[in-house]
Amino acid sequence: ATTLGAAAEQTGRYYGTAVAAGKLNDSTYVNILNREFDMVTAENEMKWDATEPNRGQFTYTNGDRILNHALNNGKRVRGHALLWYQQQPGWAQNLGGSDLRNAMMNHVTQVATHYRGKIYAWDVVNEAFADGSSGGRRDSNLQRTGNDWIEAAFRAARAADPAAKLCYNDYNTDGVNAKSTGIYNMVRDFKARGVPIDCVGFQSHLTNSAPSDYQANLQRFADLGVDVQITELDISGSNQANAYAAVTRACLAVARCTGITVWGIRDSDSWRTGQNPLLFDSSGNKKAAYTSVLNAL
Ligand code: XIL
Repeated sequence: ATTLGAAAEQTGRYYGTAVAAGKLNDSTYVNILNREFDMVTAENEMKWDATEPNRGQFTYTNGDRILNHALNNGKRVRGHALLWYQQQPGWAQNLGGSDLRNAMMNHVTQVATHYRGKIYAWDVVNEAFADGSSGGRRDSNLQRTGNDWIEAAFRAARAADPAAKLCYNDYNTDGVNAKSTGIYNMVRDFKARGVPIDCVGFQSHLTNSAPSDYQANLQRFADLGVDVQITELDISGSNQANAYAAVTRACLAVARCTGITVWGIRDSDSWRTGQNPLLFDSSGNKKAAYTSVLNAL
């Protein structure tokens, strides 16, 4: 195969990228997107601040642009993200208690209903666990509505869009550590109690290498009966090409690793300004890391 998407499809997987609606009129960007990738994530356009800027008033213009571009070009879409402690509209940041709880559940239901039947997988909850050694939940306005907020969100998303796979997504969870183990325990509990969860996303914002137990960590989650996906991959540093190959091989070695998404197309598109962590240079040329991925797929 000569493109990332076609190469991934050889093993039944996808190769995706984050897309910004504002770049869909950049022909270099769109040419690479259309040629190389078969899965799309909206980089910002489906987040809470973008979709519900005022309480109860939903705005889907830019999210729909990305969704329609993807579907019209034969690509699938990962929805990102229904609930997250960041990129909340100001009005939600000022709520608490049952008022916030009602608002967040309504948000999940409304957005998942708008996109019903069109989303491969939703990041229902993003980044809810604390960094460091506690293995516990992150303090946030969402967490303060009650420890059951994550399962309530998953149940609401399932009711609104029964066809979408429902994922939990986080960062610094790429190896076996306290944070990933806290999430592992939550997923195990959800599966035991019948809370609807289908997949776990590993953002994989990396520097120079993946943890040595990266594959083993993916596998232990897969062994719980969920799909695993690499959802926001970008790798900075001089060992970039080797690290991209290692991440690719790890996913291919785990049967339930269903796909990889890089967090942007060209280095100039990356949120990691100045770190050049992506597969295409700022002119849109393939980098060594691109070839390394294509050869590993
Ligand atoms: C980032 C976007 O890339 C930026 O454009 C935005 O300013 C901030 O958010 N984890 C996530 C993503 O789940 O949504 C974040 O995306 C990067 C970290």
